[in-house]
Amino acid sequence: MTKGAQLYEGKAKKVFETDDPELLIVSYKDDATAFNGLKKGTIRGKGVINNKMSNALMRYLEKKGVPTHYVEELNDRDTVVKRVSIVPLEVIIRNIAAGSFSKHYGVEEGRVLKIPTIEFSYKNDDLGDPLINAYHAMALELATEEEIDTIKKYAFKVDEELKKFWESCGVTLVDFKLEFGRLSDGTIVLADEISPDTCRLWDSKTGEKLDKDRFRRDMGGVEDAYQEIMKRLEEHI
Ligand code: TMP
Repeated sequence: MTKGAQLYEGKAKKVFETDDPELLIVSYKDDATAFNGLKKGTIRGKGVINNKMSNALMRYLEKKGVPTHYVEELNDRDTVVKRVSIVPLEVIIRNIAAGSFSKHYGVEEGRVLKIPTIEFSYKNDDLGDPLINAYHAMALELATEEEIDTIKKYAFKVDEELKKFWESCGVTLVDFKLEFGRLSDGTIVLADEISPDTCRLWDSKTGEKLDKDRFRRDMGGVEDAYQEIMKRLEEHI
């Protein structure tokens, strides 16, 4: 499988065409941004880690019954995925209060939520990815009711499976963001990535942050945290 024309360059990945119209190649960069691109930097080795981690977790989730866009890892940074049209919603699941949830609702970071929560953001950089509810999403024709039901079902299944998996690695899955896409026949599949860029992962014993919050919050030790979380994954997957 060879890379064709570049279709798109995002903040953390590039996307290329292939000779098969149903397949694309995603290429992971070391670039990191936060706060809608206001903060920019590089996390050395991040692209390799995010590529390998996302692929390993998607293969794991496929086995547990969650369909994904994953096809084949080509090398350290490049992966073949199914071409999808992305549903323009960021789907966020939370098990523990942190980040914007703590800020919006005045809840201390680290409070275990009585039940996992789901929220949607409208994927639109110009608007700063505002929170949106399911009715808004349907009214704006971002997704149908049936698609939203499917997305919710898969998102909670991902939470259930990944919570268990990370627990076996001594890591607490605090929250994460997913994106879904439609295949050419309309089937909804999990797309984008699952990585320390898109999840909050805390060491279960010490509470140490092993994710992108170290970059967002200028905590230092960013590269080491990415290496450490990858090591834990490789030891247990
Ligand atoms: P938040 O608390 O800032 O809303 O973030 C919730 C989760 O979503 C957290 O695991 C980080 C992830 N996330 C992204 O993947 N992309 C984003 O643009 C933002 C804001 C959060």
